Amino acid sequence: MDLVQKTEKYGPVVRLAPNEISVNSVDALRTVYVGGFEKHRWYLDVFANYGSPNIFTLLGHKPHSVQKRMVSNVYSKSYLQNSKDLQTVSSQLIFDRFLPIIQETVGYGGDMDVLDFTEAVGMDFTSAYLFGLSNSTDFIKNAEYRRHWLKEFQTFKIRLPHERAGGEIEGWCFSMCEAADAFIHSEKLNENPSATQPVVYRQLSQSLGEPTQPNAPQFKNTMVAIASEMLDQLIAGHETSGITLTYLMHELSQRPCLQDSLRSELLTLSPPIIYPATNDTTNTNMAQGLPSPRSIDALPLLNNILQETLRLYAASPAQQPRVTPFSPTGTTIDGYSNISGGIRVSANPYSLHRNAAVFPEPEKWVPERWDAEGEKRDEMKRWFWAFSSGGRMCLGNHFALQDKEMKLVVAAVYSNYMTEIVDGEGMEQADTFVSGPVGGKCVLRFKHV
Ligand code: HEM
Repeated sequence: MDLVQKTEKYGPVVRLAPNEISVNSVDALRTVYVGGFEKHRWYLDVFANYGSPNIFTLLGHKPHSVQKRMVSNVYSKSYLQNSKDLQTVSSQLIFDRFLPIIQETVGYGGDMDVLDFTEAVGMDFTSAYLFGLSNSTDFIKNAEYRRHWLKEFQTFKIRLPHERAGGEIEGWCFSMCEAADAFIHSEKLNENPSATQPVVYRQLSQSLGEPTQPNAPQFKNTMVAIASEMLDQLIAGHETSGITLTYLMHELSQRPCLQDSLRSELLTLSPPIIYPATNDTTNTNMAQGLPSPRSIDALPLLNNILQETLRLYAASPAQQPRVTPFSPTGTTIDGYSNISGGIRVSANPYSLHRNAAVFPEPEKWVPERWDAEGEKRDEMKRWFWAFSSGGRMCLGNHFALQDKEMKLVVAAVYSNYMTEIVDGEGMEQADTFVSGPVGGKCVLRFKHV
């Protein structure tokens, strides 16, 4: 019996074991997640990098909120929408890497594994924002290295922190931190107008105390603390976006008419994202860059398509364990009182997103359901939990979704191409914390329109 069936049979609060509860209601989300129950130790045991805690793994409320506040500014919606660095990153990644590679693939017949490719896109966007364009990855163009890295990462993520310590992936991220640090203290930005700042690295190094002196005693510790944070964000940023984009394109590939409607909406953008440039568009393309993040964010069909993909295929659909606090009167969750302290309690997007009373026919991908208005729409939004909620909500949700990466990438693809399925075997989601297709691939054919 899976968690959805357990909820249907036993209600929204289910005791799974003497010390473990699973919850599935908006009321329980409010108590446990918005109410700030601390994370379970499992996070520290499984996700620590370099033996140093980071925003994702810090358990205590105080140290976590201090660290999160150091970078939350550069991940806020308004900062992202106005960031010149991110505009340059987006324009270069879309016009110099992403669209040329798709166009080249079209020349060879158009078949591409979009899981591998969109994870590359997620990595290049995230690392460029973290470290600056000149110090970041080029997974989009360097297919050989990204395949090697993604294979290495499959082993990395099933190892415990002490087993993976000092390995290739930790070393790789540390080198990018060192490059970003050297960049901040050089004149490179002045020399090269298309270079961008290492926005997140800079912000964190200023807050934690700049590791400017390689011989100073605190240098290594500060670098390690920053590297732990950076590696966590690279991991959080590339796989989740890649999985979401893959399921979205897989669903759209089964619906040519919906692709046409989406393209009509996308071509209203100013300037439209046209590639390759024609005589008519040469001047509007690279010269004017991309349409504003606000205008992309305001497209209703694009929004519905992403929202529905995140509902049905939440990239992190699993239990997010917290611990009940110790208090003399015990804790009450959704009407169940007197729950002792130290109990593991979790909700998961998979079950919340399959409540048939809120999302009729929940197993079907229906973007139009998000056209609902008023109380119906508000209710759906209350149950939508792809990015969690409360103080431990996803740090990168605006970066991933609303302003830049995923909406922009979908807009760039479907303004120019149509897609169809070549090999869609094994698309069921794996049963892991971050869950991609069990087949580990999704091959689509791109055709220029
Ligand atoms: C589709 C894209 C993404 C999805 C679906 C997603 C989902 C989530 C979820 C569900 C959590 C809460 C996990 C838990 O408490 O167990 C989370 C936390 C987090 N995410 Fe994301 N994420 C995405 C993209 C990103 C990106 C792009 C970044 C950074 C660049 C990021 C950074 C983080 C961090 C640092 C946390 C920990 C927050 C905290 O504990 O305070 N995520 N994400």
